[in-house]
Amino acid sequence: MPHYDEFKDGIALITGAGLGIGRATALAFASQGAKVVVSDVNRHSGEETVGQIRGAGGEAIFIATDVSDEGQVKAMVAQAVEHYGRLDFAFNNAGLTQNSQPLAEQPSDTYDKLFDVSVRGVWLSMRAEIDQMLKQGHGNIVNMGSMSAVNGIAGLTTYTATKHAVLGLTRGAALDYAKQGIRINAVGPGTIDTPMIERFIKLAGTDKVMEPIRAAHPIGRTGRPEEVAEAVLWLCSNASSFVLGQILMVDGGYSIQ
Ligand SMILES: NC(=O)c1ccc[n+]([C@@H]2O[C@H](COP(=O)([O-])OP(=O)(O)OC[C@H]3O[C@@H](n4cnc5c(N)ncnc54)[C@H](O)[C@@H]3O)[C@@H](O)[C@H]2O)c1
Repeated sequence: MPHYDEFKDGIALITGAGLGIGRATALAFASQGAKVVVSDVNRHSGEETVGQIRGAGGEAIFIATDVSDEGQVKAMVAQAVEHYGRLDFAFNNAGLTQNSQPLAEQPSDTYDKLFDVSVRGVWLSMRAEIDQMLKQGHGNIVNMGSMSAVNGIAGLTTYTATKHAVLGLTRGAALDYAKQGIRINAVGPGTIDTPMIERFIKLAGTDKVMEPIRAAHPIGRTGRPEEVAEAVLWLCSNASSFVLGQILMVDGGYSIQ
């Protein structure tokens, strides 16, 4: 990973940082000298991420947060600022997936569950982060999209709709604050080997479910969480200073087919 001077002593908040892509991004920010606010609904895994950062000589705190709860999200940003004084970077990563099923067969609570976390969570998080970033006059936000933000995927209709919504939030908010020193973009991962995918395989009862998924990525494999973290850091860095409202696809070519 390149070294970015601007991350030294910067304050980076990451939601859903207890596992998977969020954890890899928290570790990547910390390795660049940033002070990391690890936020997750799951205390155990969030504290484990903090332990890994501190074990590697980095600086981090854990704040337990359910991103679908407005009060908790406001408290998350307030506590981060109380502890570290400001908020330079935010990665709104927390999100849920669904079982692969045609739309009419999906349980009726699928919509609320997914939209509450993956869409309301990003909406609430951006609002609280932007309030703080406006006070400082600077800030950089990356939202978690997916290849499903720009493609339809059979069996994942509700998930696909949440990620399209995240892209809409990203583009709209990027324009709202373009002149106020706040840059907002998104990442669009393909299939990434995380506990989310492990649960997907467990539900299917066989790793064979991954064969067509791997084959659907032109590069011939699934991705690693660290490969997404690289993209998030680049979007937060000065290297991408003229990039605004974009979704950077990190998907082994999935979305260009
Ligand atoms: N893994 C993939 O293939 C893939 C591909 C594209 C996009 N994504 C997106 O990346 C993000 C992270 O996925 P992952 O694969 O690392 O998932 P994961 O399940 O491995 O980790 C998600 C983390 O989010 C936390 N979380 C769940 N609900 C939360 C809530 N309400 N509030 C706060 N934290 C919550 C979990 O506790 C967990 O630590 C999600 O938004 C997902 O949609 C994943």
